[in-house]
Amino acid sequence: MKVAKLWISLGLVIAISFAVLGYYGGEIYHSMPPIPKQVVSTDGTVLMTEQDILDGQNVWQSMGGQEIGSVWGHGAYVAPDWSADWLHRESEMLLHRWAQTETGNSYDRLNDDQQALLLSRLKKEMRTNTYDSGSGQITLSPDRAQTFTELSRYYAGLFGHDPQFDKLRDDYAIPSNALKDPARAKALNAFFFWAAWSCAAERPGENVSYTNNWPHEPLVGNTLTGSMVIWSVVSFVLLLAGIGALAWYYATQKHTEGEERFPEKDPLLALSPTPSMKATLKYFWVVTALVVVQAALGAITAHYQVEGSSFYGIPIADWIPYSVTRTWHTQLGIFWIATAWLATGLFVAPAVSGHEPNLQRAGVNFLFVCLLIIVVGSMVGQWFAIQQRLGFTANFWFGHQGYEYVDLGRFWQIFLTVGLFLWLFLMARAIWPALKKGSETRNLLVLFLLASTAIPLFYVPGLMWGQHTHLAIAEYWRWWVVHLWVEGFFEVFATVVMAFLFTRMGLLRVRVATGSVLFSTIIFLFGGIIGTFHHLYFSGTPIGVLAFGAAFSALEVVPLCLIGFEAYENLTLTRARPWVKAYKWPIYFFVAVAFWNLVGAGLFGFFINPPVALYYMQGLNTTPVHGHTALFGVYGTLGIGLMLFCLRGLTTNFEWKTGALRFSFWAINIGLLLMVLLSLLPIGLMQTWASVEHGYWYARSAEFMTRGIIHNFVWLRVIGDSIFTLGLLALGWFILGLKTGWSLKGERVPYLSDKPKAKAVSSRK
Ligand code: HEM
Ligand SMILES: [Fe+2]
Repeated sequence: MKVAKLWISLGLVIAISFAVLGYYGGEIYHSMPPIPKQVVSTDGTVLMTEQDILDGQNVWQSMGGQEIGSVWGHGAYVAPDWSADWLHRESEMLLHRWAQTETGNSYDRLNDDQQALLLSRLKKEMRTNTYDSGSGQITLSPDRAQTFTELSRYYAGLFGHDPQFDKLRDDYAIPSNALKDPARAKALNAFFFWAAWSCAAERPGENVSYTNNWPHEPLVGNTLTGSMVIWSVVSFVLLLAGIGALAWYYATQKHTEGEERFPEKDPLLALSPTPSMKATLKYFWVVTALVVVQAALGAITAHYQVEGSSFYGIPIADWIPYSVTRTWHTQLGIFWIATAWLATGLFVAPAVSGHEPNLQRAGVNFLFVCLLIIVVGSMVGQWFAIQQRLGFTANFWFGHQGYEYVDLGRFWQIFLTVGLFLWLFLMARAIWPALKKGSETRNLLVLFLLASTAIPLFYVPGLMWGQHTHLAIAEYWRWWVVHLWVEGFFEVFATVVMAFLFTRMGLLRVRVATGSVLFSTIIFLFGGIIGTFHHLYFSGTPIGVLAFGAAFSALEVVPLCLIGFEAYENLTLTRARPWVKAYKWPIYFFVAVAFWNLVGAGLFGFFINPPVALYYMQGLNTTPVHGHTALFGVYGTLGIGLMLFCLRGLTTNFEWKTGALRFSFWAINIGLLLMVLLSLLPIGLMQTWASVEHGYWYARSAEFMTRGIIHNFVWLRVIGDSIFTLGLLALGWFILGLKTGWSLKGERVPYLSDKPKAKAVSSRK
């Protein structure tokens, strides 16, 4: 296809997809569960007000929000899903109350007919939507009002320091006195009640609940719906059709290109790093340090699953409880991956144009300092938040927003946004002269700049919610950031940046690269943008979200299924010319990117993607199976590959000793695979079974999660995690050695010649 046509198609895909995304954003306003002005009992007692619910949401956020259990299935996995937990406990309490008052017996001792009668009464009680839009009130029966009071006592005890909950707190990895102020506990209960109410109350005029019947809860009649089945089946068929169409397209493209003519010597050998390029080195040091810290925090977080308040007997939970370590763990992942990419951009830009703008080095150093302040500042704020030392407003701005992957306070978010735009500016001004030349690479450069622009631009939706924004709306915008980054523009950035590097090395022709990168971008964004909705099936959205989400996100998997072509080509490149061997390990990491794109993003992503699957699996251990293999597997390995590529450019004249790097590559990849296959996946599958058989609450309950067999599988994680961590340490060792000299072998042969040079390197460059 002509390049111009490809550009037009890309424009159309983006415009139409965002129109759909925007349209449903508006629809969510109409279909989301209302926050009542008051919840009252039929006798007129006011149980809670709108303000209580909104404050409760803030309390939940200040504790770590989605980093401590989950709500509507989004969040962490050790403590329960509070919406499902509340719903189940409330239902059981009602059944027992009625059984007692009407028969004098406990519910369990009633016969089948009596139980069936109470169950049908329960369904009616819980599903009937008593919200009155005129008065803005939800009215509860006296029994339900009484249950609310009892359940509130339960949660206040759990989040307080009632000793009868010591064991349960340990199972949930919640420290004693997580909430120090009883008023906060009261508000939290209001929020939990409302989140659970939305799961069962039917949407006006429909017979599904606001959360499309999520969670699976047989007691209240929350079961799979017809649309979930239909859209799941449609998504399977679309995926197969997409793969077929793309295979056909590839077949027609094959053999049309002539023999590749690779350069005889390394074109990058002539590269002499400018001051600003050299200044990126410290970014890579920080990347290496952060990745090791992230892994250590991951180990502590995972350990909390077996020992909820300490680490091998050391009582660390008072200082760094689960919600803190998990927050830092997930956030550092984003930070180091982003830092590696930013540094790559800053390194590549002057190299491409041969132009070092004025004060570029100062800009690179300034950005570095800003990034450090953001990393440390946001983490300190989160710590203060979880220690309950901030008021609601201070918490929103500087503490913990409680929304996974965008947990940092609003001030830090804004600071980061500015930093990302500064990065774009620094890069764009360095590339500009090359762009003006209008050479053959122009299209590719424009694409590179566009993909880079998308990174700061799509961080901006993270600023769209406020301190009191409805959860359904906050979730909508949050996924604009998280999903559109990882499944849209990051994929594009990855494709462009790799193609770009290969063209600079003369291993890929610019014309071929331009066409194929544009084509892949269209394919990725076609499924990827509307695919955002696969995170929103059950968070208070209309059925269209489920339908579009299932269908389009299935299409995301199409290019991933055929990514083997790209991986094989990259692998072949390492053998294209002898000089390419110097880039073997960066290229191997790029091959790993493709592997994990297929396995982590494609297979494990699709595993949980159809509505029938996610209905039972959302927020089970099947999610970290996908989360780790996709986020680390694809973008982590890309970050490492890019970093090695730049470090190669910063040590152009030297051969590398690659023993540690080889070990690191295999240990990281095998470790990741074992972490998932030996531990997370089996636990996720057992949980799925429990969720289907008994209800979602059970799959997340302490009762189920502390069973011996689950603990054994949690322990099995140690094998994969250790191998993985050793790989990261070896990487750190190797990178350190580039400075100290132990990773450098001797001077690199400048031309393709068989005269080996054996000059040893005794000190750093
Ligand atoms: C490299 C690309 C991808 C990355 C980095 C990625 C990463 C993630 C992450 C970090 C989460 C959140 C986990 C959590 O809430 O704790 C997630 C959730 C999810 N992803 Fe992906 N993903 C990618 C591609 C895909 C693809 C291709 C699909 C399927 C078509 C997919 C389907 C899902 C679904 C359905 C969820 C929701 C799971 C839940 O809420 O329990 N992802 N992904
Ligand atoms: Fe997604």
